[in-house]
Amino acid sequence: MTSMQGKVALITGGSSGIGQATAVALAKEGVKTVISGRSSAGLKKTISEVNAAGGKIQSIEADLMDPASIERLVADAASAFGQLDYVINSAGTQGEVNIFADQRLESYEEVFATNVRGTFLVMKHAIPHLLKQGGGAIVNLSSGGGLVGVPGASVYCASKHAIMGLTKVAAIDYAKQGIRVNAVNPGGIDTPMLRKFFESIPDEGERKTARAGFDKSHPIGRTGTADEVAEAVVFLCSPKASNIVGIALSVDGGYVAN
Ligand SMILES: NC(=O)c1ccc[n+]([C@@H]2O[C@H](COP(=O)([O-])OP(=O)(O)OC[C@H]3O[C@@H](n4cnc5c(N)ncnc54)[C@H](O)[C@@H]3O)[C@@H](O)[C@H]2O)c1
Repeated sequence: MTSMQGKVALITGGSSGIGQATAVALAKEGVKTVISGRSSAGLKKTISEVNAAGGKIQSIEADLMDPASIERLVADAASAFGQLDYVINSAGTQGEVNIFADQRLESYEEVFATNVRGTFLVMKHAIPHLLKQGGGAIVNLSSGGGLVGVPGASVYCASKHAIMGLTKVAAIDYAKQGIRVNAVNPGGIDTPMLRKFFESIPDEGERKTARAGFDKSHPIGRTGTADEVAEAVVFLCSPKASNIVGIALSVDGGYVAN
C-alpha cells in the first residue's frame, strides 16, 4: 500500500496526452481518479488503461470554455468517490502559432478562456473540497513557455505565464491550510498536441526539418514522453513533496536551462 492509497484526484484533460498518462500513473499509486475531457473516445481509452492497471476511475464530459460546466464538473468530481484530495489541471490548448501581430483575437480568447480562466475556475471551485479534507495538492500544467518566450507562441506563452501567477499566489494563500499548489513545466512532449502542431506544416521536408530542430533545442536531444511528465505530477501530489510549495518543476530535458 502506498501513502497515496485511497486518495481521489480530478484530472482535467484526462482524455489525452499528459492527463491520460497521469491517470494511469496515479492509479498505480492507488489513487482513484475522476477524469474530464471533451472526447468520449479519449476518455474511454483512459478508463480502459486505468482499469488494466487495477485502478478505480470515473469520467465526466465537460467543456472548460464554459464556466457553468466547470462548476458542475468539480461538484460531480467531488461526489464521485465522496472526497477530493488532488487536482491536476492538464487541459489546455496551444492556439495559433503565428508572429505576434498576426495572432487573431479569436485565438487569444479561446486560449485564455481554456488555459487561464479554466484553470482558475477549477482551482476556485476545488479548493473548498480540498480544505474539507484538511489539505491536498494542486498541480497545474504550465509549460517551458510559462518561463521563457517561444517564438510564434506569444498568446500561448502569456497564458502559461498567467498559470504561474495563479499557481504562486494560490500556493501562498493556502500553504498554512495544507494545500500545496505547484506547476509542472514540460518542454516538448510527444502527445497529440505536439503532433498536431507538426502535422500543420504542409511541406514534408519543412516538417522534418522543423521537428529535428525542435528536438535539438532540448539539450537532452529529444522531446519527452507523457509518462515522464506524469511521474513529476505524481511526485508533487505525494507526501514526498511535503515541503514543495509554489514551484515550477521543469520536465524539459534542459530546454529552459539552455
Ligand atoms: N505536449 C507538449 O509539448 C506540452 C508542452 C508544455 C506544456 N504542455 C501542456 O500540458 C497540458 C497537456 O497537454 P498534452 O500535451 O497532453 O495535450 P493534449 O492535446 O494531448 O491534451 C490536452 C487535453 O486538454 C483537453 N482540452 C482542451 N481544451 C479543452 C476544453 N475547452 N475543455 C475541456 N478539455 C479541453 C483536450 O480534450 C485534451 O484532453 C496542456 O496544458 C499543455 O499546454 C504540453
